[in-house]
Amino acid sequence: MSEKIKRIGVLTSGGDAPGMNAAVRAVVRAGILAGLEVYGIRRGYSGLVHPDVFQMDVRSVSDIIHRGGTVLYTARCPEFKEEAGMQKAIKTCGDFGLEGLVVIGGDGSFRGARDLSIRGILCVGIPGTIDNDISSSDYTIGVDTALSTIVSSVDKIRDTSQSHDRCTVVEVMGRHCGYLALHSGIAAGATTILVPEVPFDFEKDIIARMQYTQSIGKKHFIIITAEGVEYPGGVAQLAKDIEARTGVESKATILGHVQRGGSPTPKDRIVATQMGAYAVDLLCKGIGNRVVVTKHEEIVDYDILEALQMKATFDSKLFRIAHEISI
Ligand code: ADP
Ligand code: F6P
Repeated sequence: MSEKIKRIGVLTSGGDAPGMNAAVRAVVRAGILAGLEVYGIRRGYSGLVHPDVFQMDVRSVSDIIHRGGTVLYTARCPEFKEEAGMQKAIKTCGDFGLEGLVVIGGDGSFRGARDLSIRGILCVGIPGTIDNDISSSDYTIGVDTALSTIVSSVDKIRDTSQSHDRCTVVEVMGRHCGYLALHSGIAAGATTILVPEVPFDFEKDIIARMQYTQSIGKKHFIIITAEGVEYPGGVAQLAKDIEARTGVESKATILGHVQRGGSPTPKDRIVATQMGAYAVDLLCKGIGNRVVVTKHEEIVDYDILEALQMKATFDSKLFRIAHEISI
């Protein structure tokens, strides 16, 4: 039973991710079981700046565990970053008696949670983004589902690419982070993987590689690139340049927002549930200004600022193996 606080809010912020609903469900139910009143806030920080707050009960989160997106809606709210917006958000917390807040989102959302924590609202962040780009956490809710969607899409593309002896360039999400490209590239057997973390050379990394693998019998090619990889004219131009240089008919596919939707995988649902319950536990103890993360398969928590300052790592070994194997 919570002795320290009585009422908390929960919101989802930034890009939606499959599994966010499972996290909301866990927060609401764990909170109520601990004796808290739990309020939902719609559209991230926007629902605090322009009050859109409602009480939730155990049934208000029924039948959402299997649904992608977020029943609380999400938004990016630039107004919240300004002092006036922040003051409105704090006033809303006061008006509704919200002493604690669970913020499900990415690093940007955690920055907002820290700002609120400094001003006296106990905030706990839960990492929810398909990008897996939160340096403090090994895992972010949504990445397993997104990977599964990408791999099944590329498997389909492979069927047609193989039938026509084509090269297909597939762009996946990840503006600053190549996690989805690298991991889907391995799982889908891409010939070449391009990520924002590693500069690439068109001749060496694409053309020479295609020509070498062609010389040992390869007839069709999949190139997976993260959206954050810069190429003048984008993937459509990259495909044209590959065709012009190699003579292999080449097409480009941008997977886009299909990667963000869909029913969450069991892993995303389970991690989301664990993190939601853990976040409520912290708040019940009167602990805020924390993010709940996974480290080596364990759920742990860090100070938000400490977490935000952690350096992103890129798995260069995995990147090397991926290229060695894909011949
Ligand atoms: P994500 O949480 O997925 O990284 P964003 O970076 O878009 O997504 O952030 C989501 C929201 O969090 C923003 O629209 C804004 O309301 C809030 N936010 C982002 N950065 C900050 C910041 N530096 N200070 C305070 N709030 C922020
Ligand atoms: O952060 C998740 C993400 O899907 C990124 O991979 C992508 O760059 C971005 O959001 C797209 O955002 P939006 O839905 O606003 O176009």
